[in-house]
Amino acid sequence: MKYDFSQWRLIMKVIVTGGAGFIGSNFIFYMMKKHPDYEIICLDKLTYAGNLSTLKSVLDKPNFKFVKLDICDRDGVYKLFEEEKPDVVVNFAAESHVDRSIENPTIFLETNIIGTSVLMDACRKYGIKRFHQVSTDEVYGDLPLDRPDLFFHEDTPLHTSSPYSSSKASADLLVGAYGRTYNLPVTISRCSNNYGPYQFPEKLIPLMIQRALNNEKLPVYGDGENVRDWLYVEDHCKAIDLILEKGKAGEIYNIGGHNEMHNIDIVKLICDYLDKPYSLIEHVTDRKGHDRRYAIDPDKIHKELGWLPETMFKDGIKKTIQWYLDNKEWWENIISGDYQNYYKEMYGDRKVLDKD
Ligand SMILES: NC(=O)c1ccc[n+]([C@@H]2O[C@H](COP(=O)([O-])OP(=O)(O)OC[C@H]3O[C@@H](n4cnc5c(N)ncnc54)[C@H](O)[C@@H]3O)[C@@H](O)[C@H]2O)c1
Repeated sequence: MKYDFSQWRLIMKVIVTGGAGFIGSNFIFYMMKKHPDYEIICLDKLTYAGNLSTLKSVLDKPNFKFVKLDICDRDGVYKLFEEEKPDVVVNFAAESHVDRSIENPTIFLETNIIGTSVLMDACRKYGIKRFHQVSTDEVYGDLPLDRPDLFFHEDTPLHTSSPYSSSKASADLLVGAYGRTYNLPVTISRCSNNYGPYQFPEKLIPLMIQRALNNEKLPVYGDGENVRDWLYVEDHCKAIDLILEKGKAGEIYNIGGHNEMHNIDIVKLICDYLDKPYSLIEHVTDRKGHDRRYAIDPDKIHKELGWLPETMFKDGIKKTIQWYLDNKEWWENIISGDYQNYYKEMYGDRKVLDKD
């Protein structure tokens, strides 16, 4: 199916799944600003990673609705589609933390694979103009540190390392299959690591910011030389909006910032910004199967859709750290209670490595 801008104006109602999480909430804010005429429905189960308070600035808007629902709940999802008849679904809902997937893969398979198929079944049953699957560069596995010339392209074979990335890769395969078998108008985007406001403090950047602010040890897995390609979350949101508007059904788009950083350098940068000593850094036993390097080639989305990242890392990281400084209440609420038990489980037994 061909999409042009005049057709696009007809696309009005968007279901954003996982919109109470990090990227989904940023996407909702972006879309509501960019397309004030759209109706946005956030479907979210509110797991530990979903936070309704994140959405408080839009909860009362007449063109926004929040529905607490599990994407695996077939009856609930069908009922919602029947009532709302959405034009577009953007699926951010997922279990997203690699460490948690190593501890308990099952929930990852349920939400990330079964949940995605339930959403697509609903799209088949009630009709849809576009189902967009938000995927990750982790489906490509990792690259060696000594081959900076290598990048992930859209046709790079899937080669996953963790239960998380395997569940995301499985979902991607299913999305492709629904496109081919049922002619469902699907697109997939595979993005590199995001950073920015509202990221749950179990992920590297917010974890280090909040612990550094509290003068607590900063646990870095292994030698910390692992490389990630970082993208400011709003640039990811812009790319998805562009794919919805101009992307072709059946296509996969890689999204990345060409901004590779070693984990240890990110942690040092946060220390520098917050004026904290590197002595807080503690190297701990590495994550099992820890991927060494991710590196996206975003040439296709640049050439075909004209997308380019707009926020330089040096600016984005400052904005992000400042956001965590200005919004302590948001993350302090999150890290009280259950999160403390989680932190102990994940890091409590890890051996401290003898490193500078
Ligand atoms: N964070 C990154 O750097 C990154 C990079 C590339 C791709 N992605 C992908 O982007 C998506 C969003 O990532 P994120 O970092 O915002 O995740 P997140 O963990 O912050 O948010 C996930 C959201 O999904 C909701 N959710 C979980 N299970 C659900 C279910 N069964 N039904 C309904 N809602 C459910 C949670 O409540 C939460 O609001 C994920 O699919 C992830 O794989 C993330």
